[in-house]
Amino acid sequence: MIEKFKTNAEVIENGDKYLYGNHVRMPISMERGEGVYVFDKDGNKYLDFVGGIAVNGLGHCHPAIVKCLQERAETILHCSNYFYNEPAVQTAKLIVENSCFEKVLFANSGAEANEGQIKLARKYAKDHGHPERFVVITMKNSFHGRTLATCTATGQYAVHRYFEPLPSGFRYAEFNNLQSVKDIMDEYVCAILTEPVQGEGGVRPASQEFLQGLRDLCDEKGILLMFDEVQVGSGRTGKLFAHQNYGVEPDTCSMAKALGSGVPIGAVCARGEAAKTLTPGTHGSTFAGGPLACALAATTLDVMINDGVIENARVMGEYFRDQMHKVIEKNHPKAVNEIRGLGMINGIQLNHPSGQPVVDLCFQDNKVLINNTNGNVLRFVPPLITGKEEIDLCIKAVDEAMTKLGW
Ligand SMILES: Cc1ncc(COP(=O)(O)O)c(C=O)c1O
Repeated sequence: MIEKFKTNAEVIENGDKYLYGNHVRMPISMERGEGVYVFDKDGNKYLDFVGGIAVNGLGHCHPAIVKCLQERAETILHCSNYFYNEPAVQTAKLIVENSCFEKVLFANSGAEANEGQIKLARKYAKDHGHPERFVVITMKNSFHGRTLATCTATGQYAVHRYFEPLPSGFRYAEFNNLQSVKDIMDEYVCAILTEPVQGEGGVRPASQEFLQGLRDLCDEKGILLMFDEVQVGSGRTGKLFAHQNYGVEPDTCSMAKALGSGVPIGAVCARGEAAKTLTPGTHGSTFAGGPLACALAATTLDVMINDGVIENARVMGEYFRDQMHKVIEKNHPKAVNEIRGLGMINGIQLNHPSGQPVVDLCFQDNKVLINNTNGNVLRFVPPLITGKEEIDLCIKAVDEAMTKLGW
């Protein structure tokens, strides 16, 4: 029999006893969600500006997702990728028709999609007469995942620590500093991998010159430009892909998070010669591109593109930054170093060592969920369906928290 728990306290007590303690958890148990709101086991209602860390793009229990899941439960959840399945083809077609890419390869998470990009880059070099090329240049403060290759690709010691020896073949440059990339470029480099907007690294959008400079450098050297859009793809920045805001086209790009509306899925999108590299037997996974995850991905993309959700992210993102600027300038000018973002990924860099006190007060006093990243950056990644009313509530909670802290 499956034991039923009645309260937050019961779930927490049993969770602390049975779950592996590798995540720091807030002291509530999430029970259900509705749009931009979530409810805990005790019935408390929270405004969700964490959004599953940029996963719940369509919010919680979007009717199209509910319908898709119900239909899927009665058709087929999984079949081997020895066979074709319609949802995988539909998802890939939607991505290709709305981007610069020609082919899509599915994976099960962001880390796996990035593993796919790294393997693709190494094989691409060998296929094109450069067996000596194996190094991928990534950026300091980046985040690319927790597998051994992707944690090594991640330019943060805190993510490497304890896991040495790490795989070889990664070098780190300064984000938004083209010269620092050129300084570590040599004949062994096969690709450059970067996020167009660093997410975990503190919500830092790349500059136009940086991304364009990387593109030109990769073209000059005959190596691949690869973007990690696990967090900022799937409509988050007000375009399907973040790089579409810059007009700079990579050779490959990863997706995950919001693509499946909560069901694990990742993707590597590729164009040109890079779209021909991963041949049968070189890469794959049992679950990748399965009918369940892909049906949800196709539905997610369809609603995002055709029901104005991506456009809403663009418009509401501007509203968020405008309103937040006004409140911060008026009430807390000394507390904040910078407000930055693109579409519906926004951050407030504080002049205090940690943003956690603000996160805690938003939670305790106003039941608003936000999070703190990279030490002292408050991060806001709500569902892309969020409207002005919810943004006003979130800003009010942040304002009140800073006032209470005397910031
Ligand atoms: C930019 C980026 N890449 C990769 C990952 C890893 O994705 P996953 O946790 O699905 O493996 C993340 C997760 O936060 C991310 O933000």
